Amino acid sequence: MKKRFFSGIQPTGEIHIGNYLGAIQRWVELANNPEYEGILSIVDYHAMTMPYEAKELTAKIKEAATMIMACGIQPHNSILFIQSHVPEHTELAWIFNCNCTMGELSRMTQFKDKSQDRGESVWAGLFTYPVLQAADILLYKAQYVPVGEDQLQHLELSRDIARRFNARFGEVFPEPQALLGEARRVLGIDGDKKMSKSLGNTISLSESSQEIWKKLSTAKTDERRKRRQDPGIPTDCNIFTSYHRYFTGKEELATIDRECRCAGIGCMDCKKILAKNMETILSPIREKYYELKKDFSAVEQFLNASALRCHSIAQETMTEVRKKIGIRW
Ligand code: AMP
Ligand code: TRP
Repeated sequence: MKKRFFSGIQPTGEIHIGNYLGAIQRWVELANNPEYEGILSIVDYHAMTMPYEAKELTAKIKEAATMIMACGIQPHNSILFIQSHVPEHTELAWIFNCNCTMGELSRMTQFKDKSQDRGESVWAGLFTYPVLQAADILLYKAQYVPVGEDQLQHLELSRDIARRFNARFGEVFPEPQALLGEARRVLGIDGDKKMSKSLGNTISLSESSQEIWKKLSTAKTDERRKRRQDPGIPTDCNIFTSYHRYFTGKEELATIDRECRCAGIGCMDCKKILAKNMETILSPIREKYYELKKDFSAVEQFLNASALRCHSIAQETMTEVRKKIGIRW
């Protein structure tokens, strides 16, 4: 029996290097490991929890699916589907709404952050967002969930919901475990906050090398290095800790560390090396993305076949769940 993992991404904007280093890179690694079976989802219902434009959502769903395929999630190694194509997600979410308390949901920090300054005008769906997330994972009885650090609290709630359901109605769900990547929380190009689509501090995977350079060249570094000859401390520099660490090989990383500390290289030199190394990793993804985008049919076929497969797993789980909770016999 293969170990099953599940993960999702919201189609709310361009996929960025925080998503890639924090989650997608891990998905691809696991997908290519024959011990695992991966189910990945574009969670469009989750994207509706904040204000949005319907026309833009369609384009963003397609774009996200194309980019995830370009990153290496492919029909031969995974399942990639659109959440709303499998209606059992919302059915199970309703049942979980009746297995999760207002108190638990009020403690979710993502809800607190996203509802800040918006008072009572936030959608009820934003409040129950983690319940739908639990349904996503448990519908497939997934054991592992590769995500970034920001999702740990939601994962803990999914485990609580599974445990409570099993205790009330009998064993149905495994308790899913989070799998963190090496990059748990990639900071934005501002060097200040988490890289996030909603903050505009991202480097997206589809950006050209020129666009990336424009962002890198003006990005903040260690503030000690006001002049070229000032030495710096790499661990106090976002360029080093957030990006070089993941895009640059061990040996070159050690050289940069040493040369920054003695002002042997300047910040611009350091950024140029980073740009070159990022290009090595990102350009094959970008090329594949633009190639798939020209003819969407390969992506569409993958999504349709995946939805059928997911639907069949989901139906099995729901038959079991409906009986357990007493609405079928
Ligand atoms: P989202 O874009 O919020 O749907 O996130 C998709 C995945 O990327 C989730 O597993 C997040 O935890 C992860 N992620 C998003 N932003 C970051 C970041 N700045 N650093 C690390 N992981 C991230
Ligand atoms: N909440 C996740 C995020 O914003 C997206 C998500 C929805 C998800 N359902 C999921 C992640 C299930 C992992 C498993 O990043």
